[in-house]
Amino acid sequence: MNKMCDLQIKKLWIIFMLLGTLQRTQAAWLRCYKDSLTEYMVTPLEYPLPIAHSSCLDRSQPTVIYTFGYQGKVAGPATTAVLTAYIAKRKRNVILLDWEEEAKSGLLGLQLGYATSAAPNAKKIGYALGRALHTLSGAGVDLNTIHLMGHSLGAHVMGYAGRWLRERGKIVSRITGLDPARALFEGTFGFFKQLDRTCALFVDIIHTDAGNYGTSKSTGTVDIWPNYYGPKSQQPGCPRKPQETFSRADLCDHDRSWQYFIEAMLSGTNISAVYADNYRDWMHDYSRSNITIYMGDLINTRARGNFFCSTNAQPPFGKGSEGLKPDYVIIS
Ligand SMILES: *[C@@H]1O[C@H](CO)[C@@H](O)[C@H](O)[C@H]1NC(C)=O
Ligand SMILES: *[C@@H]1O[C@H](CO)[C@@H](O)[C@H](O)[C@H]1NC(C)=O
Repeated sequence: MNKMCDLQIKKLWIIFMLLGTLQRTQAAWLRCYKDSLTEYMVTPLEYPLPIAHSSCLDRSQPTVIYTFGYQGKVAGPATTAVLTAYIAKRKRNVILLDWEEEAKSGLLGLQLGYATSAAPNAKKIGYALGRALHTLSGAGVDLNTIHLMGHSLGAHVMGYAGRWLRERGKIVSRITGLDPARALFEGTFGFFKQLDRTCALFVDIIHTDAGNYGTSKSTGTVDIWPNYYGPKSQQPGCPRKPQETFSRADLCDHDRSWQYFIEAMLSGTNISAVYADNYRDWMHDYSRSNITIYMGDLINTRARGNFFCSTNAQPPFGKGSEGLKPDYVIIS
């Protein structure tokens, strides 16, 4: 009986994998990974139920659903690193929201492609993920076990998913925003709603390129500000700006968000941060507050407010308790 069932599931996997390759032009997909980056099942985002009914989703484990940002790729560096880390960590289900087609810049170029296509698509795909999670919850998947995570524009995709659910009386347990995208989400042209603390029971945001590619306001339950010493701060080890737009060097600070998070998540305790009202207080007297948290999955979900830390310029980034101290101080 079990063998038959396994065979059926294998067949299903193959069908869904085929679907996945045939319909590359269509919308978005959920990819549920099993043990490695090359073993996964794919379902269209609009039809998530096969995941609930497959052996890919172990209901006794929590589930992390990750997505990338503008121009992100399934095989891109952020996606590969985050998925590899979570698969290695085990004890949880790992799902990728693949919206590669919808996250492209298209023919209009970087700026227009973002404004006319990728940003509105982020909202559309976010709502679709909300609906998918609603469906999965109807099939018995506990939303309390769901952790959404997104980098850059992907953080807002997750925000929209959480908001969609919230408006229908449901809520996911956690959303992690890895340097949520700033363009069109903040300031005079902030047409879109950004990820905020109402989108999940607990929202942690890691700001590594604030005011540039990343948002500059505290909108999470917890906002973590590594190496933040005021506007135009740069991450240690990253090249001075300006750099060619969207080059790896240009994105260095923005990408530190997922690099820090992965190290924190894998090690458990490598990166801790200390509470302060704002960066000036932190720089002035970092030891004023004794409230510290770990970045990553050991984060204290009862924590609230802004947390600061310093890091090394290269891996391992974590400095242990030294990281609670700023690299620059205000002397008054
Ligand atoms: C955590 O920090 C230690 C000490 O610096 C380092 O050896 C280790 O590789 C780090 N862990 C990760 C996952 O980077
Ligand atoms: C921090 O800890 C010290 C010693 O444990 C204590 O005296 C002090 O009141 C604490 N400060 C805060 C802000 O909790």
